[in-house]
Amino acid sequence: MQITGTGALVTGGASGLGAATVRRLVGAGAQVVIADLNAQTGEALAAELGENAHFVSTDVTSEDSLRAAVQTAAGLGNGLRIVVNCAGIAIAEKVLGKDAPHDLNRFAKVLQVNVVGIFNAIRLSSDAMQHNEPDAEGERAIVLTASVAAFDGQIGQAAYSASKAGVVGMTLPIARELARYGIRVMTIAPGIFDTPMLAGLPESARASLGQQVPFPPRLGRPEEYAALVQSIVENTMLNGETIRLDGAFRMAPR
Ligand SMILES: NC(=O)c1ccc[n+]([C@@H]2O[C@H](COP(=O)([O-])OP(=O)(O)OC[C@H]3O[C@@H](n4cnc5c(N)ncnc54)[C@H](O)[C@@H]3O)[C@@H](O)[C@H]2O)c1
Repeated sequence: MQITGTGALVTGGASGLGAATVRRLVGAGAQVVIADLNAQTGEALAAELGENAHFVSTDVTSEDSLRAAVQTAAGLGNGLRIVVNCAGIAIAEKVLGKDAPHDLNRFAKVLQVNVVGIFNAIRLSSDAMQHNEPDAEGERAIVLTASVAAFDGQIGQAAYSASKAGVVGMTLPIARELARYGIRVMTIAPGIFDTPMLAGLPESARASLGQQVPFPPRLGRPEEYAALVQSIVENTMLNGETIRLDGAFRMAPR
């Protein structure tokens, strides 16, 4: 699929994996909407990248907010053809804490952002995509972001792992359903990447995590995630699958 001249939407595009994806897609000639809660970093990135990047203040869990971002992206270039879902949150909390069981609202919040938010983006953007003038192969691509925690979640990751397994689980049925519109759906399950999500950890903990990766023995670089997004978008045969991007890393129980 051609990226040049295409409208694209990146949720969570103001930071980390999303920001690297925005840079990559703009570099490849797309016109990109950065849909993120964080206006400060989102606007700064759009200003840095120039006329092919646009920030739209967005909460992926809100119907109206996401609809506005999708409408902006649909008006760019030859219409919305690429959607990359990077908005997400992580918490660490045990089912049985020292003083109380897992807070139910915090569990629900992670599901709301990571599963409901991604589904909101898929349904609204695929609705916009189905009205595009098809290109040569009538093709569009939606990329979801899960995590290796979907498969080998650690103690304390009940909410996060459940949410990311939800993303993996919706990949195939939605790819099957949207196939008739030429919309592909693929999921990337990253290992541990060096983004602001990990910034709370001390440098020694980050280095130790990196050393646990068989090869390369380091944290992933956001540009490596963005490079896989581009490969997925460009390779028409990739559809309905989850790709681990983790250097053969498998998380230990704790
Ligand atoms: N960094 C890692 O090691 C890693 C590993 C596996 C999976 N992931 C997943 O990759 C995705 C990106 O993570 P990251 O490391 O770049 O994190 P990050 O915190 O750097 O970026 C996440 C972005 O999402 C935005 N966001 C959060 N809630 C939102 C909402 N409701 N609406 C709109 N935007 C919202 C934040 O403002 C932020 O800009 C997440 O889904 C995360 O779970 C990250």
